[in-house]
Amino acid sequence: MKLRILAVTLIVVLAFAGVAMAVPGGKTVEFEGGAGGKVVFDGQKHADAGKKCNDCHTNIFKMKKGDDKITMKDINEGKFCGTCHNGKVAFAATECAKCHKK
Ligand code: HEC
Ligand code: HEC
Ligand code: HEC
Repeated sequence: MKLRILAVTLIVVLAFAGVAMAVPGGKTVEFEGGAGGKVVFDGQKHADAGKKCNDCHTNIFKMKKGDDKITMKDINEGKFCGTCHNGKVAFAATECAKCHKK
């Protein structure tokens, strides 16, 4: 019985740690963004939107900052951020200012 409670507690703790940890470790990833202006990818906001690590890693993004060479052309073709930011899963890639900050 005690073991069972311990197991359940562990599962709950691990589940919450997973959510709090987010992308990566609840942090943000910054991209230069060229002429578009800086892009900040917020891991916590994506975790809050229900996205799990393996929704993005490693089929969409590698797990090392800067390993993916992301361009707007790719995004508009439905790759990288554009896998979701297509106006269906999440806001469309035409909403520049939602990602790019001058
Ligand atoms: C919505 C998509 C998305 C989700 C969900 C996501 N990540 Fe990421 N992750 C990214 C992007 C984008 C990058 C940056 C990749 C790049 O620059 O090429 C990244 C980078 C990383 C990195 C490398 C960071 C660095 O500084 O090198 C790690 C580690 C990582 N993610 C871990 C995780 C873990 C663990 C989870 C789940 C808790 C997670 N990610 C969920 C999109 C995501
Ligand atoms: C879902 C987020 C997102 C949206 C929306 C978005 N971008 Fe981007 N954009 C990015 C990311 C990520 C990069 C890659 C940045 C890097 O690697 O430095 C990028 C790169 C760029 C670049 C650099 C050169 C290139 O072509 O890759 C320009 C210019 C740019 N975006 C303009 C725009 C414009 C204009 C819009 C609206 C029509 C837009 N972006 C909408 C995320 C977005
Ligand atoms: C696996 C799907 C997925 C991928 C890949 C993804 N996003 Fe998102 N993103 C979402 C969802 C879902 C939301 C929340 C719904 C919405 O805002 O439309 C969101 C929200 C956002 C927001 C708004 C956050 C806020 O302030 O509320 C930004 C900015 C953003 N994403 C940028 C990016 C950038 C930049 C990339 C690529 C580096 C990216 N996303 C890749 C699914 C994704």
